[in-house]
Amino acid sequence: MKIAVIGAGLMGSGITQQCAQAGFSTVNIDAFAAAQEKAKATLAALFERKVAKGRLTTEEADAILSRISYSTDYAAAGEADIVIEAVPEKIDLKKAVFKQLDAVCKAEALLLSNTSGLSISEIGSVTKRPQQVMGTHFFYPAPVMKLVELIRGLATSDEVYTQAKAFMHSLGKTTVDAPEYPGFIVNRILVPMQNEAAYMVMEGCSPEDVDTAMKLGTNMPMGPCELTDFVGIDVMLATMTGLYEGFHDSKYRPCPLLERMVKAGRLGRKSGQGFYTYK
Ligand SMILES: NC(=O)c1ccc[n+]([C@@H]2O[C@H](COP(=O)([O-])OP(=O)(O)OC[C@H]3O[C@@H](n4cnc5c(N)ncnc54)[C@H](O)[C@@H]3O)[C@@H](O)[C@H]2O)c1
Repeated sequence: MKIAVIGAGLMGSGITQQCAQAGFSTVNIDAFAAAQEKAKATLAALFERKVAKGRLTTEEADAILSRISYSTDYAAAGEADIVIEAVPEKIDLKKAVFKQLDAVCKAEALLLSNTSGLSISEIGSVTKRPQQVMGTHFFYPAPVMKLVELIRGLATSDEVYTQAKAFMHSLGKTTVDAPEYPGFIVNRILVPMQNEAAYMVMEGCSPEDVDTAMKLGTNMPMGPCELTDFVGIDVMLATMTGLYEGFHDSKYRPCPLLERMVKAGRLGRKSGQGFYTYK
C-alpha cells in the first residue's frame, strides 16, 4: 500500500514518519521545498538521537528513511492508496488541495484530512468523490500520541470509514468515532476546561493555584494554564472561538482575558509570556 501525506509541517512530518515506521512507502508533498528540508533535517536528527540511545539501530533508521520520498508536485500522489492532508487550517486552502487531489488521485484512493475542526462534508463537497473523503484527526506529536479521532462527513461511505479505521489501527493507533461538530471529542471537552481556567484567573485566582488544584485534584500531568501556554494562547482562543461560532451557543464564549493577552502579544511559551513567564 502506498501513502501520500500533504504538508511537511508539524503534523505532516510526524504522520509521514509514522507511516514509514509502520512499513508503508510514503511520499510527502508540500508546496514549499524549504518545509521539506526542515522536516528531513529534524527527522534525521531525531533518528540520530534514537540510534545513539540504542532505541533504534542504524539499519532500522535507514530502512524507515528509505521508505520516505519528497515532492512538491501533486502528481506524486497519483499512485497513493491513501492520502492524508495536513496543510494549514484554512478552509479555502483545504478545498484547493482536495480539488488538486481529486484531479490526480486514483479513483479508489482514500482522501483523509487531519483538520482540527473544519467540516469534512464541506471539504469533500469540492471533489467528485465526497464518499472517499473523511477526517482522521491525529494529535501532536503524531508518532507518539496514540489517539486518532475518526470523523465522517455526510457523504463518507461505510467502506471508506472501515478502510480508514483499519489503516489507523495498522499504524498502531486507537480510534474513536467523533461527530462532525466543532472540537470533535477531545477539544470540545478540553478547550472549554482551559477557557474556564482562564475565567478563574480573570476573577483573581493565581494560575499556580488553578494548575496545582487540577494537577493534584485530578491527576492531570499539566495544569490547564500551563497547557494553554504550551499550545499557544492564540491557538487555544481560535479553537474556543470555533466552538462558540460553530454551535451558536453562549456556553462556549471565549474568556475576555484570553483576548486581552493575545492583543498584548502574550501568546504563551512561544512569545516568552503567557500565564507564566519563560526565559
Ligand atoms: N499542530 C497541532 O498540534 C495539530 C494537531 C492536530 C491537527 N492539526 C491540524 O493539522 C493541520 C496542519 O497543521 P500543522 O500544525 O502541521 O501546520 P504547519 O503550519 O506546521 O504545516 C503546514 C504545512 O503545509 C504546507 N503547505 C501550505 N500550503 C500547502 C499546499 N497548498 N500544498 C501542500 N502543502 C502546503 C506548509 O508549507 C507547511 O509545511 C491543520 O489542519 C491543523 O489544524 C494540528
